[in-house]
Amino acid sequence: MYLCAPNQNIMKKKELTSTFTIYQMDELDQEQRELVEVAKAQVHKSYSPYSHFQVGAAAKLANGVIIKGSNQENAAYPSGLCAERTALFAAGATYPEEKVTMLAIACFTNGHYTAEPGSPCGSCRQVMVETEHRYPGNMQVLLYGETCVYVFDSAKDLLPLSFLTEDLQG
Ligand code: THU
Repeated sequence: MYLCAPNQNIMKKKELTSTFTIYQMDELDQEQRELVEVAKAQVHKSYSPYSHFQVGAAAKLANGVIIKGSNQENAAYPSGLCAERTALFAAGATYPEEKVTMLAIACFTNGHYTAEPGSPCGSCRQVMVETEHRYPGNMQVLLYGETCVYVFDSAKDLLPLSFLTEDLQG
């Protein structure tokens, strides 16, 4: 992304905006609801003996296949991986030629799903953006909470001004 016009070094304030929509579960369409249900079921596959915070993820591919993920922790803490990246990397490893069109995430702790949707960590946002960017079109991100669901039409709305493969060109 290029924001610096040549020969223009005057200080300028910029604003980064991010848009998402808040829905009730019954306001989602069937495809969205089904993917959220898969993410919700996945929390119970989480391996999280250290945080006791269970996260489930479900990635829908263009061919209709759903790839599942959950957070996988490790006694050497940084060796663990979040649910979102577990699902997205499995999708890329298994179906590299298929676009990921939708990703749903749910969090569960202390015996119940979180009331508010969980907020994906920065590393997962970075991976979401590149996953979306790999193929044309957007990847919708659905964050489930007991009280509402946040729907981001693009992963880029979760990480404005993100670092993309083009940025490596300098
Ligand atoms: N976690 C995820 O799986 N996704 C996120 O986006 C945030 C955090 C996991 C990592 C760790 O296993 C536990 O939640 C507590 O941080």
